[in-house]
Amino acid sequence: MRLSLSTAAACAAALLPSVSATIYYAGVAESSGEFGVWSATATPGTGLPGRFNVDYSFVSNSGIDVMVDQNKVNLFRVAFLLERMCPLSYGLGAKFNETHFDYYKQSIDYITKTKGAYAILDPHNYMRYNDPSSQPFSGSVIGNSSDPTAATTAQFGAFWGELAKRFADNEKVIFGLMNEPHDMSSALLMANLQAAVDAVRASGAKNLVIAPGNSWSGGHAWTEGGPEASSNWIHKLVDPLNNTAIDIHEYLDQDFSGGHQLCAQDPVTNLAGVTAWLRENKLKAFITEFGGSNTTECVSMLNTMLDYMEQNEEYIGWTAWAAGPFWGSASPCCTDQAQFGSLEPGSKAAGGGPSLYDTIWLPVIQKKVPEKLQWSGLASVSGGELKVKGA
Ligand SMILES: *[C@@H]1O[C@H](CO)[C@@H](O)[C@H](O)[C@H]1NC(C)=O
Ligand SMILES: *[C@@H]1O[C@H](CO)[C@@H](O)[C@H](O)[C@H]1NC(C)=O
Ligand SMILES: *[C@@H]1O[C@H](CO)[C@@H](O)[C@H](O)[C@H]1NC(C)=O
Ligand SMILES: *[C@@H]1O[C@H](CO)[C@@H](O)[C@H](O)[C@H]1NC(C)=O
Repeated sequence: MRLSLSTAAACAAALLPSVSATIYYAGVAESSGEFGVWSATATPGTGLPGRFNVDYSFVSNSGIDVMVDQNKVNLFRVAFLLERMCPLSYGLGAKFNETHFDYYKQSIDYITKTKGAYAILDPHNYMRYNDPSSQPFSGSVIGNSSDPTAATTAQFGAFWGELAKRFADNEKVIFGLMNEPHDMSSALLMANLQAAVDAVRASGAKNLVIAPGNSWSGGHAWTEGGPEASSNWIHKLVDPLNNTAIDIHEYLDQDFSGGHQLCAQDPVTNLAGVTAWLRENKLKAFITEFGGSNTTECVSMLNTMLDYMEQNEEYIGWTAWAAGPFWGSASPCCTDQAQFGSLEPGSKAAGGGPSLYDTIWLPVIQKKVPEKLQWSGLASVSGGELKVKGA
């Protein structure tokens, strides 16, 4: 029998003693695998397949070393592009570019096997496939039956079934189904997510899955949009293993985009609706993208947001946006295009000044990495044994 996520979680919760709020997984998003495809003229095919370590990369092993060994974080979310994993000549599905897959797997294995941390697989595709040249808006929406060039829902399932099979023997790998779906119907989003979960479980993989919402997976937007609101849909996702959590993004600037230096959106107010929905449906969540610049307001709001996740048991994990070996002095977040560098250890602002790693990661976010995190066992909606790293 298959129960919906909410029914299943309600049954599971009844068997457990009430627990205090706990973050089991904490770390940083690794952004660079999606690099090198943008085109000012939106020319399809730009940067595909791309040259590994020239146009794009996944992680810097030395950066991962610093994050795990010195900073004691246990979670990395590693972006890749569907169009590189499944070249257009193959189509979206179970046939991969094995060369590209091997590069990706090397990074995931380094994080999970060499360093003992957890890794979220992040297809950074906005629920679109076939033209990343003007992401996040270009490309056909997966499953759009009015678009003959669109990949189908079944193809998306086949893709996830294959990827899951390849990582099923690694309990530290978490399946992030899709980055930031937007501008599509929630019914289609649900069909795609369900096809992916079904294929993941049919592959035999027991791994933790995290499912996004619509509207860029924005926490503040979760209950907005009337019948299309994520809060009307996402809890209906069915996972026969009851090991699916929710994947939320939340930025602090005026339009929630992470594109501005000034922080203006109070996270406690803006997350109240999605948190109530999580509680009502007995669901757990990760916030896998958030960030702020080094202004006084942003530092204050980042502290508030990290405390909020620590204090509300619905939240079990987070990754800040973003580190990655290819940012250089450019900034992934929160600077109005100012070159303040990234969260990558050792990165520098333009001119050699301190980067966001120095001004935001170390003094602010790092202080909220819990001393005890999970370091062994299956990633799970229920977490696992908490330990000081190496103890
Ligand atoms: C999922 O949860 C439901 C409801 O509690 C339960 O009946 C079912 O056995 C669970 N499945 C697994 C694999 O734990
Ligand atoms: C597969 O990836 C490799 C490495 O990036 C690349 O050289 C090759 O052209 C790709 N093949 C296809 C069919 O895209
Ligand atoms: C689906 O495809 C049709 C035809 O190309 C297009 O008009 C429509 O906007 C697409 N829907 C979405 C959600 O992209
Ligand atoms: C933020 O970081 C940039 C780059 O290092 C620096 O120029 C600026 O002075 C910093 N601002 C604050 C408020 O610390």
